[in-house]
Amino acid sequence: MSGMQFTDLKSQYAALKASIDARIQRVLDHGQYIMGPEVAELEQKLAAFVGVKHCVTVASGTEALLIALMALDLKPGDEVVTTAFTFAATAEVIVLLGGKPVFVDIEPDTCNIDVSQIEAAITARTRAIMPVSLYGQVADMAEINAIAARHGLAVIEDAAQSFGASYQGRKSCGLSTIGCTSFFPSKPLGCYGDGGALFTDDDAIAQASREIRVHGQSARYHHTRVGLGGRMDTLQCAIVLGKLERFEWELQRRREIGARYQQLLADVPSVQRLAVRPDRDCVWGQYTVFVERRKELQAVLQAAGIPTAVHYPKPLHRQPAYAAYAPADACPRSVVAAERVMSLPMSADLDEADQDHVVAALARALQASLA
Ligand SMILES: Cc1ncc(COP(=O)(O)O)c(C=O)c1O
Repeated sequence: MSGMQFTDLKSQYAALKASIDARIQRVLDHGQYIMGPEVAELEQKLAAFVGVKHCVTVASGTEALLIALMALDLKPGDEVVTTAFTFAATAEVIVLLGGKPVFVDIEPDTCNIDVSQIEAAITARTRAIMPVSLYGQVADMAEINAIAARHGLAVIEDAAQSFGASYQGRKSCGLSTIGCTSFFPSKPLGCYGDGGALFTDDDAIAQASREIRVHGQSARYHHTRVGLGGRMDTLQCAIVLGKLERFEWELQRRREIGARYQQLLADVPSVQRLAVRPDRDCVWGQYTVFVERRKELQAVLQAAGIPTAVHYPKPLHRQPAYAAYAPADACPRSVVAAERVMSLPMSADLDEADQDHVVAALARALQASLA
């Protein structure tokens, strides 16, 4: 058990080796490393999976968010309402384009954006709302879309952690103007490097995104707009195609393992579990709980061979790069969550014995640290 992985990519590769190796070999044989046939094949499959018209693969999840904002023509000074409790990339892309992230606090039990605070954050400069479907559970998109419609705003779902999750019978990434995901290796659907995709039903946004990812070209060496080098490699697309073969099974396993953690931890005092709303599921991009004295707990668990992680130790308005966008005492629930969240090992291949070991070690560590 001492070799327990936080995200077990080795077992996943062992299960899919024949298919992934064959797909990689095919790319090596045809040699079209940039925009080869696997790119379009993956885009078709993912668009069908999500249930939208267009999927545009890009170099990373960050690039998907950046290209989404560029496709919406975000201008310097434009504001984007987003959550304070997320990975830096969410706000980074807004600032890179000269925009202003306007941070809204979270619901304390799901860590997703608190929709009841969004409208107060909207001004005449607001262009978009960018919720994050944190930990694999979709944010309250119906309400967010309703607010956006009232104010004429676009909605970009940062679905880096929630690919495959369902919300009111529809899939994450297909719930708003644009959905963006990441294929970072540890994500629910990962490649073996960097990759990402954006999803939309809007033909103009899809066309703009396709142009932006190839330096703004609408035809070879005809640069209609300013773009960037944002393509996803053919090899990485081939790997995701291989991973898709058991993705439905993996999603089901993630839901089951998450539900089993929730059940086992119900009996562990001083662990607070994340709430999952009844109209959606959670694919547990991270399996995260709330604890006190996290640092001590992590050290005890580490000594027992159990890796943990913190997503995230500081809300963005407490990070030096983003402190200018909100006072330090803003978003108090995000501040509290950042002090308490701790993620436990999670992957589709986590077996029950390892999971029992994690839960028992956590219970013992809590007893020791609270004694
Ligand atoms: C919420 C969130 N947004 C954006 C990203 C950026 O994705 P990538 O690492 O593929 O650029 C990540 C992943 O790290 C993420 O967790």
